[in-house]
Amino acid sequence: MEQTWWKEAVVYQIYPRSFQDSNGDGIGDIPGIIQRLPHLKDLGVDVVWLSPVYQSPNDDNGYDISDYQAILPEYGTMKDVEAMIEKAHELGLKIMMDLVVNHTSDEHRWFEESRKSKDNPYRDYYIWKDPVNGKEPNNWASDFGGKAWEYDETTGQYYLHIFSKKQPDLNWDNPNVRQEIYDIMNWWLDKGVDGFRMDVINLISKDAAFPDDPSVNYGKHSSSMEMVANGPNVHHYLKEMNEKVLSKADIITVGETPGVSTEDAICYTGFNSDELQMVFQFEHAVIDDSKEGLGKWSNERFDLVELKRILSKWQVELHNKAWNSLYWNNHDRPRVVSRFGDDSAEYRELSAKMLAVTMHFMQGTPYIFQGEEIGMTNVAFDQITDYRDIDTLNAYHDLVEEQKRLTPKVMMEFVHHSSRDNARTPMQWENTNQAGFTTGESWLGVNPNYTKINVAAAKEDPESIFYFYKKINQLRKEYPIIIYGDYELLNAEDSEVFAYIRNYKDQQLVVINNFTDQTVSRDFAIPADAKALIANYDTDLGTTLRPYESKAYLLRKEG
Ligand code: NOJ
Repeated sequence: MEQTWWKEAVVYQIYPRSFQDSNGDGIGDIPGIIQRLPHLKDLGVDVVWLSPVYQSPNDDNGYDISDYQAILPEYGTMKDVEAMIEKAHELGLKIMMDLVVNHTSDEHRWFEESRKSKDNPYRDYYIWKDPVNGKEPNNWASDFGGKAWEYDETTGQYYLHIFSKKQPDLNWDNPNVRQEIYDIMNWWLDKGVDGFRMDVINLISKDAAFPDDPSVNYGKHSSSMEMVANGPNVHHYLKEMNEKVLSKADIITVGETPGVSTEDAICYTGFNSDELQMVFQFEHAVIDDSKEGLGKWSNERFDLVELKRILSKWQVELHNKAWNSLYWNNHDRPRVVSRFGDDSAEYRELSAKMLAVTMHFMQGTPYIFQGEEIGMTNVAFDQITDYRDIDTLNAYHDLVEEQKRLTPKVMMEFVHHSSRDNARTPMQWENTNQAGFTTGESWLGVNPNYTKINVAAAKEDPESIFYFYKKINQLRKEYPIIIYGDYELLNAEDSEVFAYIRNYKDQQLVVINNFTDQTVSRDFAIPADAKALIANYDTDLGTTLRPYESKAYLLRKEG
């Protein structure tokens, strides 16, 4: 397999709004990021993925862009971004920008033109349709609740919006749209950025027949996203993007791709695909979705055997064909330690470390979401009015207020479990008012546990989660087996322990993780001369695995 820097890299995601405020307005900003770059250097990551900082009315916190070549003033200026790129490069860090081009904001100049008249030159930049029998052109549901079509009085047509009605979908079948986007991408590459994370990039090509969604159910806050996933021309468009932009520079690319199978992923990222390098698959990220058909709105606990099956399938089926992205967290998901581990005082640190080993010792490029490196947890605000996320607020409105399917109490439990704001509470830097995030009033509440869980405390404790992540990042640089070794799951049906092996040349790595708060016993026949690479307890009891115990051994293979 070809060895490349982006396979060996570790990526760190910054959600700028919540990372570091520098001017006391309660909103994170670019100068704040610059100030904190040394933290990332210290952690030992290589690439910083920045969630959107472009001009935006912020209907969906920047995932609704009104100008791709301007910076939202509350984040700073273009000069600040240039300074950030320069400072990052000085430190040996690369910058990956978020590229949100399935849709724009309705306040983007293109859309403002487009909605003016049917013969406006920008009309075909978006997807406009006549009413059918006086109603929407089809039954599609928006991912954020309600219908995916919005009627526009001026011209008497509907436009498509898979996300909020302030996020109209672009028409990628229009070559002018595609060229505009490639120009914007090249413009950013000229500014020195090192790659792109592409928002829902597999939704860009819509079936021209716009067929009804057979499983739509507005009553259940359903989404028709799958109807537009992996559409007819998506590979054609990505190959074109690759030819006109991506292939011209040595950059890192990852596409966010809901609803992809391993076969789809190989089409997008196969070593000879000439499209992308990696995708974010969603299978493990939706593992605990509601069994009642309410999407993410549930408080169900995941099933370990199923998690192992999914992650192992991705490991095995992509091996030698394509490259995995490895992630537990991002700005759309609850905190990993609360969701897959145990965020109680007793087990938070142990389980956060165990989860880090489980994910980072697989084959692929790991992505760490801000705060994960100190074991930040979910938050449980009392009132729905404490939440800011459009998806959470819309779901509460639909399920509680409008359809009365859930009581406020049950819905708040689901919000505490699944809301995107769990990931978006401000970064906890120190034990001061507002966690050192801002001197003003934070745009979203700080998790009250910042007094204990913060970067300053973690840096003072040599046993902290922070140093554990740092060690994993160092091991990755020292042991190519962690990056390039193949993968084999052990004991698929074991519902308590997630163990696997990696093989590379004459080496073998055995990775053992107890996912329970119980002491269990498992014999993996580890030879006495095996080298212990990492562990989250400071003694080794052999076949006895204590609660959330995690360890990895390096073995020399016989023969
Ligand atoms: C996926 C992004 O990660 C999410 O935050 C956003 O709301 C949607 N795409 C729409 O852009």
